[in-house]
Amino acid sequence: MEQALIRSGEHRVTVLGAGVMGPGIALTFLLKGFDVSLCDVSEKALQDGAVSVERSLRLRVEENMLTVNEAAAARSRLQTRLGVDAGVADADLVVEAVPEKKEIKRAVYASVQNHGKPNAVIWSNTSTLDVYQLVEPAMLSRIVIAHWFAPPDIVPLVEVVRAPGRENEALTDATVALLKSLGKTTVTLNKLVNGFVINRLQRLLGREIFYLLEEGVISAEDLDLAVRTSLAPRMQLLGLVQRYDFTGLDLSVRNLRDKEFVEAPFQESPPSLMEKVDAGHLGVSTGRGFYDYQGRDRLSLQEERDRHLLRICARLGDYVSDPKPI
Ligand SMILES: NC(=O)c1ccc[n+]([C@@H]2O[C@H](COP(=O)([O-])OP(=O)(O)OC[C@H]3O[C@@H](n4cnc5c(N)ncnc54)[C@H](O)[C@@H]3O)[C@@H](O)[C@H]2O)c1
Repeated sequence: MEQALIRSGEHRVTVLGAGVMGPGIALTFLLKGFDVSLCDVSEKALQDGAVSVERSLRLRVEENMLTVNEAAAARSRLQTRLGVDAGVADADLVVEAVPEKKEIKRAVYASVQNHGKPNAVIWSNTSTLDVYQLVEPAMLSRIVIAHWFAPPDIVPLVEVVRAPGRENEALTDATVALLKSLGKTTVTLNKLVNGFVINRLQRLLGREIFYLLEEGVISAEDLDLAVRTSLAPRMQLLGLVQRYDFTGLDLSVRNLRDKEFVEAPFQESPPSLMEKVDAGHLGVSTGRGFYDYQGRDRLSLQEERDRHLLRICARLGDYVSDPKPI
């Protein structure tokens, strides 16, 4: 079955969940001319979500990436709505960015099935769940995992994951096409694995990070400095796999067989992390984590991050959004 491409002006998009991810996803559609409803079960989250979209638009105007009129037009295409059923009723595409809890996701998918348009499709932004098990078989051709990265309006990649029986093949193709038209970069995973690809890599790195900090090998600031001035620029060019070709595959084998190398152990609750969590230092949301943000609030810290990321992406251009191997 061919899946119709969702088009701005013709089709409506509903983003469910106005937390960390929803507003940035909504913004991505707004910037490409779509009418978007941002829905949440919390009035406060909706208000914060609208503020977040507003701030991101203003940031783009300040950075000369958008005119005042374009920002106003994008803003005028946004509606905020309380509740789920009303939000999905007129949507052709429902992007769910609700909490990573099976019961919540299941209820949202049932709402689309029961209250949505008969052909409405769902993109799930889940980070880890096999959401294909949370829908009735009849819905499998109408749902696809499309996993964005924070901040979703700036980080180019979206991981698209096929359903195990490939029931959503046509939707996967249409999703990739739409994401590309939104200016996103996609990779399609042929199989569902926990954490997909990028979060698996991050999880593995976490093992070494906590080990190195806890062993007192390096400070958090120096570890970040080291990564930002070595892996980061080189990875931008070579990724991770092509780097092996430049290192030499024979040398890579020798490194792997080094019997004296001590691997970092897997820890479910690394002390360096737990001591901060137990003290209530949760990161930018509380003004302190591994770094101390001196009382600055989350939104202003995110704005500073986004401003720098926008500038970096603008400078690097295709190196970030459409990189090619050597
Ligand atoms: N935070 C990230 O960096 C990140 C990155 C990629 C993917 N994700 C995934 O995206 C999803 C959302 O993550 P988040 O960090 O934005 O979560 P969040 O907790 O910041 O926001 C979730 C929002 O959903 C709302 N909500 C709860 N139940 C709802 C319902 N039934 N209908 C509509 N809204 C409802 C909550 O009020 C909240 O505002 C999760 O599946 C998460 O794993 C998160």
